[in-house]
Amino acid sequence: MTQDELKALVGQAALQHVAPGDLVGVGTGSTVNKFIDALATIKDRIAGTVSSSEASTARLRSLGIPVLEASAVEELAVYIDGADEIDGRGYMIKGGGAALTREKIVAAQSRRFVCIADESKLVATLGAFPLPVEVIPMAATRLQRQFARMGGQARLRLKDGVPLVTDNGQHILDVTGLQIADPLGFESEVNQWPGVVTVGVFAHQKAQVCLLGTPSGVRTLTF
Ligand code: 5RP
Repeated sequence: MTQDELKALVGQAALQHVAPGDLVGVGTGSTVNKFIDALATIKDRIAGTVSSSEASTARLRSLGIPVLEASAVEELAVYIDGADEIDGRGYMIKGGGAALTREKIVAAQSRRFVCIADESKLVATLGAFPLPVEVIPMAATRLQRQFARMGGQARLRLKDGVPLVTDNGQHILDVTGLQIADPLGFESEVNQWPGVVTVGVFAHQKAQVCLLGTPSGVRTLTF
């Protein structure tokens, strides 16, 4: 099976975690795009969605799936999203698609986080994937020095040769060289550095379930 087929498999399997009448939180990325395509087949049976990015909103709307403002909704039944890495406890690195801040907001509004990923995303320790951190641009250089002090190399993410601008008008640092043994502590520490908008460690908003695409089918991990 190709990686794309594994993503389609878990995107379809995620429908089992959506009940009739649910409000559904929708993440961002190529795996979530498969979920959105699957969700379109039951769009008349859900109450609506809250989206984590302009890209997902556009895809949802193009398929006729209702998208509500996060601020108009008190609680979502479930949040479905991909990950760049997930460990055996349900802690994740996210933000490869630069949507981490809105992803964390929608995840925090949801009763359950169901992660959908192909098996290449399962790791023993977080940190091999460059850790995305959304930052206020004027703080970026100072934050690069701060990551260097903990052994990380933080690079400003570029798009078409200029700094990528997120949906929130901010920049992204991608940090390599970290081994994140204590995701809860790491997230708490980095999140309070001045200028950090969101760190891409999802430990306080971890997954409760992971649907992992493998060549022999969907493996369900619960945390
Ligand atoms: C976007 C994300 C994505 O969930 C993550 O990058 C995985 O993406 P993909 O499903 O394309 O591999 O965090 O900000």
